[in-house]
Amino acid sequence: MLMDRFARRFTYLRLSVTENCNFRCNYCLPDGPDCSSRTPELSLPEIRRLVTAFALLGTTKIRITGGEPCLRKDLLDIIATCKAVPGIEKVAITTNGYRLQRDLPAWKDAGLDAINVSVDSLDPATFHLITGQNRLPYILEGIDQALDLGIPSVKVNTVLLKNYNGKALPEFLDYVRERNLALRFIELMRTGDNVQYYQRNHVSGNDIKQQLLADGWVQREKPRSAGPAQEFSHADFAGRMGLIMPYSPDFCDDCNRLRVSSLGQLFLCLFTEHHQDMRRYLQSDDPERLMQALQGFVKTKKAHHFLHNEQSGSTRHLAMIGG
Ligand code: GTP
Ligand code: 5AD
Ligand code: SF4
Repeated sequence: MLMDRFARRFTYLRLSVTENCNFRCNYCLPDGPDCSSRTPELSLPEIRRLVTAFALLGTTKIRITGGEPCLRKDLLDIIATCKAVPGIEKVAITTNGYRLQRDLPAWKDAGLDAINVSVDSLDPATFHLITGQNRLPYILEGIDQALDLGIPSVKVNTVLLKNYNGKALPEFLDYVRERNLALRFIELMRTGDNVQYYQRNHVSGNDIKQQLLADGWVQREKPRSAGPAQEFSHADFAGRMGLIMPYSPDFCDDCNRLRVSSLGQLFLCLFTEHHQDMRRYLQSDDPERLMQALQGFVKTKKAHHFLHNEQSGSTRHLAMIGG
């Protein structure tokens, strides 16, 4: 089992499979294509060994992240490989939706259980301004297809951005009126690459929460293992609204996840400079050394991220470690 000094158990691995992205979300990759690395990404056998060791230590859920995972040509094999590891019950993906319509049926056949899609605006022109891509209608059709295909969990991620979607709450509410999905607003996080942007665009998730409560939305009970989002439901809406507020004081209390980058580096938190190389333990089929290393590293996990202080400025964009 993987447990830290604060009795938090880690059953959820966020595995980034590439740092590359074909979008340029202005809060994430403002300065163009600088994030591609020359070091090769984890191979399929390395991924299988990594996931096997995590599963032997109690991990039941893998979320495949990036960059943009669909840029990996072997993504189908990655999904199937993760799903085939004994103990892994759920394989999820976080994507910008670029290939959603074309590839989702195949992802589903490979064993995908859950999908989170980033949609920061429902207005095509604003979407283009934020992401650098003119693809909103295609992505929205892809999300509807995911619902039609019966993917068990479909979520939409919207980063709150004062100057882009700050007045768009009614449109987002309309979107979830008839759709059985969760739309989560994510509070913009400050990274080393977006400090001024953060100052201009940060919106407090708590302000949105108060508006939802005033409009009759009711906060849902969530189990301790449910992850960082607070969720709200409303009798008149098929969908749910969610809030991810990393600046709220108790955000890290129930942390259930660890991260591995596409280069095989273990990150104990989204915001930490420190990481450990796991790749050297992935060169043979013996999981024991990796399991021992993981059990040791997890004991050094801090109680909280350090988003609240100046150090977050030294963390680069989230594409690096998969958000
Ligand atoms: P599920 O609970 O599996 O649906 O995933 P999720 O909502 O955690 O995953 P997703 O990839 O959709 O991420 C949504 C947002 O939550 C992203 O902005 C992540 O960076 C953020 N997030 C996820 N986990 C953490 C965390 O441990 N710490 C912080 N600060 N942010 C996180
Ligand atoms: N703050 C908040 N969310 C971010 N994401 C990427 N960078 C940031 C940031 N600085 C989001 C993406 C995606 C999720 C994985 O992380 O929009 O939905
Ligand atoms: Fe790509 Fe996601 Fe970053 Fe947007 S937020 S540029 S989709 S990694």
